[in-house]
Amino acid sequence: MFRILARKRLVPNIHLLEVEAPEVARKCRPGQFVIIMPEERGERIPISIADWDPARGSVTSVILVVGTTTRKLAALNAGDEVPVFVGPLGRPSEIANFGTVVLAAGCFGIGALWPVARELKVAGNRVIALLDAKADYLLYWKDRYQSVCDTVLFSSRDHALGSKDFIPPPLTAVLKAEARVNRVIAVGCTYLMYASSQATKPLGIKTIVSLNPIMVDGTGMCGACRCTAGGRTKFACVDGPDFDGHEVDWNELFMRRKSYFEDEIRSLCEWEEKELP
Ligand SMILES: Cc1cc2nc3c(=O)[nH]c(=O)nc-3n(C[C@H](O)[C@H](O)[C@H](O)COP(=O)(O)OP(=O)(O)OC[C@H]3O[C@@H](n4cnc5c(N)ncnc54)[C@H](O)[C@@H]3O)c2cc1C
Ligand code: FES
Repeated sequence: MFRILARKRLVPNIHLLEVEAPEVARKCRPGQFVIIMPEERGERIPISIADWDPARGSVTSVILVVGTTTRKLAALNAGDEVPVFVGPLGRPSEIANFGTVVLAAGCFGIGALWPVARELKVAGNRVIALLDAKADYLLYWKDRYQSVCDTVLFSSRDHALGSKDFIPPPLTAVLKAEARVNRVIAVGCTYLMYASSQATKPLGIKTIVSLNPIMVDGTGMCGACRCTAGGRTKFACVDGPDFDGHEVDWNELFMRRKSYFEDEIRSLCEWEEKELP
């Protein structure tokens, strides 16, 4: 069993979860993920590693509550235990001195991209981060990004900070204002990654996305995470999760993510009937 060291709400609907897992914490690299199961008879879901502390033996994730399993994770408290916490899984993100790197992140992607931002800066890059949320009060870890990035920009529909547009226009504006951008990395919901890739394609800037298909085992055996990149079949859990966003078959990914939509809704309704007064 794996003990929960901390669970706290970062902003409405997004929670931080710190799990005691020394073996995992010793090996984490930016861009990797874990498979977690909140209870014995639950579902296994993939969650990105947002931070880790080998000395404390802990791994931290940021969880956006969307369905039954993420609700169960958000209801955990320090001292609770989860039966499955497997990782680190997936290939780490490529970290090198690329030059100028623009990061585009939204919802749980702000947490998932944090270790990537940190290590890109250590590798000598000029790092520009663009953090997106529906409203300013849904942005978190601004201070963390500001502590390592050369520039941090915001976009939120309430126009409280920076642009009010969803990522493509502010991203395009940054890319046009910079003399040279060597790489864009976009992490968050599928639409954010798709839209970022569409925005950078005409400019020919290499764009990396961290794909989030349905996963079950996370080790290349079940095929649930099958996707297509560069015209070839890939398993996101072992070949990714990072892929070149210009090579991804986005229609297929959007379709496959909907495979269990009716079951997900039914599961959520059953959970709410059981758990809510
Ligand atoms: C490699 C990888 C890393 C991931 N990292 C993270 C992470 O760090 N944090 C995190 O919160 N999630 C992450 N995810 C996504 C996470 O695994 C799913 O959100 C989770 O499995 C949902 O389980 P559920 O039972 O709560 O919801 P489900 O019952 O599976 O989904 C409920 C419904 O919510 C909707 N939905 C699903 N995902 C989203 C979304 N992102 N935004 C809006 N609506 C959505 C869909 O309509 C879906 O039908 C990652 C996925 C992958 C593959
Ligand atoms: S999750 Fe099973 S093959 Fe990738």
